[in-house]
Amino acid sequence: MRRILAGIVVAVTMAGGAAAEPGAVLSSGAKPCGDFVAAPLEDQWRYEAWAVGYVSGQNSMDVGSMRNVGSSWTPDSVMVWLQNYCSQHPLDDFATAADKLRQELAAQEGRLPQKPSALDLAGDAEKGKEVYAKQNSCGLCHQVGPGAKNLIGPELNGIVGRKAASVADYALYSAGMKKLGEQGYVWTEENIDKWIADPKAMIPDSPMALVFQGLPDAQERADVIAYLKTNQ
Ligand code: HEC
Repeated sequence: MRRILAGIVVAVTMAGGAAAEPGAVLSSGAKPCGDFVAAPLEDQWRYEAWAVGYVSGQNSMDVGSMRNVGSSWTPDSVMVWLQNYCSQHPLDDFATAADKLRQELAAQEGRLPQKPSALDLAGDAEKGKEVYAKQNSCGLCHQVGPGAKNLIGPELNGIVGRKAASVADYALYSAGMKKLGEQGYVWTEENIDKWIADPKAMIPDSPMALVFQGLPDAQERADVIAYLKTNQ
């Protein structure tokens, strides 16, 4: 019976929403770490989401954005880290804890093996053409080659070395992609590799990221990039 009651209290508290919003309180730097440790688990997750957004610089509640800063971290390990830190430093404000987490991640990132990059591999354009045309792969949304038109995604002729968001008659660029273009971001092989490995890590709300998971296999990415280069 107690547990049922506790459940109802939690549900009501969560429905209350605004009062427990950590971002607003935390950005003023006023919320001590001790409050985080003492908070019910449901609220701890909201702090944790805030910390992840803060650490990854994406202002995002999505733990997936942790991949930008340290691929071996999971929501659970972040939570444990924060609980440990805040138990030991209850009077620190929570933003300080998040800063320490950021430093910890940066230090660890140096020790972690680098994710394999397509740039270290020789790409095979013929194989790349196959990967491109696979079900639910690039060809679903992009045309490339003579007479290529925009589909769901922009045509990809000359993409290596092309500026981001620069196809004038393509109307569906996301705000994030347009911003990259305005900043002068260029689709070098390295940047294409990063983008197609995990589009969500770069622009979480890009329409490409919402549908396409990316190509985790570095060899496949090397092959696709080699294929794209045959259509410069
Ligand atoms: C589900 C559809 C879809 C799939 C699959 C897809 N893309 Fe995209 N792609 C898009 C959309 C939509 C955009 C525009 C994204 C934006 O503006 O945020 C885009 C943008 C791009 C861009 C940037 C283009 C520019 O003009 O700045 C590149 C490069 C790209 N995709 C390459 C690829 C490659 C290579 C693959 C396969 C490995 C792929 N995409 C798979 C839909 C897709």
